[in-house]
Amino acid sequence: VSPYLFKHKGSNFLVKDKMQPEDLDALQYFEIRSTDVFLISYPKSGTAWMQQILVQIMDAAHPEQAEDVSNRLRVPWLEERSADNPLRERPDPRIFGTHLPPDMLPLGVKAKQIKAVYVWRNPKDVLVSFYHFAHSWVLLETPTSFEDFFQQFLDGKVYMGSWFDHVREYYAVHKQLNIHFVQYENMLKDLRGEVVKLCAFLGKDLMDDTIDHVVKMSTFKSMKTNPNANYKDLVEKGRYLGETMRKGVAGDWKNYFTVAQNERFDEVLKYKMSNFPLPLTWE
Ligand code: PPS
Repeated sequence: VSPYLFKHKGSNFLVKDKMQPEDLDALQYFEIRSTDVFLISYPKSGTAWMQQILVQIMDAAHPEQAEDVSNRLRVPWLEERSADNPLRERPDPRIFGTHLPPDMLPLGVKAKQIKAVYVWRNPKDVLVSFYHFAHSWVLLETPTSFEDFFQQFLDGKVYMGSWFDHVREYYAVHKQLNIHFVQYENMLKDLRGEVVKLCAFLGKDLMDDTIDHVVKMSTFKSMKTNPNANYKDLVEKGRYLGETMRKGVAGDWKNYFTVAQNERFDEVLKYKMSNFPLPLTWE
C-alpha cells in the first residue's frame, strides 16, 4: 500500500492521522450506551449525507443543540484523534460515525444491540468520488493517474481497504448486529421514503411536516450551502483542497471508466460478490 497508509487487521489506515494500531484496538473497549446510534460506511458512500439526516431526525432529542454546530462535532468520528471531542460526552442519544470493519467495532455495539445505519453506494461511483477525494484530502496520496487509482481500488489498496470486503462483511453480520442498510441511490430516488424507513428503524415518530423539514435540509443543494453540513471549515483550515460536496449524482463513473475498465470492474464485482444476496445493479 501507499506510504500514506498502514495496514492493520486487514484495513488501511492513515499514517498522518496519528491513530496508532493500539489506539484503534483500544476502540473495542470504547464504552457504548444502549441509546447510541452508529453511522457506518465505506468512504465516499454517503456518510456526510446520512450524518445530516441523522442529526435532523435525532434533533428532537437535542433541542438545546445550537443550529450552528457542525455535523462533524455532532457526529464524532470514532477512529479519530480528536476523540476527546466533548460532544462524545453529550447527553443521550449520541451518534458516532465510523468506517471501521465489523470486527474492529466497539464490542458494545453488538453486546448492547445498538442501532446502526450502514450506507452503501454503487462502488463505481464510490471509486470516482474517492479518486477526487484523494486529490483533495491532504492526508491521502495524490493518485498518479485514474488507471492507477482504479487498480488500487480493485486491489483494496486504498484508505480503509476493499469496498467489496467492507460491504460483504457488514451484510454478513447485519442481523447479529442491529444494522439498517440504506442505499445511496435509493436516497437519490426517494429521499422522503428512505427517511420514513429510517425513522421507523430508529423508533422516531415524527410529524409529516418534521419529515418534510428533514428532507429539505438534506438535499444536495441545501447541504452544499450549509456550512454545518458541507465540511467547508476543513477547506478553510487547508486540510481539504477541493469541493467537499462535489456532484452528488448516480452514474458519474460513466464519465471516467473506459469500456475495458468497466469490464474489469464487473469481473471483480462478480467474483468478489458471488452469492451476495442484495441486487448489485445500478445505473
Ligand atoms: S467521506 O469523506 O467518506 O465521509 O465521504 P462521504 O460523505 O461518504 O461521500 C461523499 C459523497 O457523497 C455525496 N453527497 C451527496 N450526494 C447526494 N445528496 C447529498 N445530500 C449528498 N451529500 C453528500 C458527495 O457529493 C460525495 O459524492 P461525489 O460523487 O464525490 O459528489
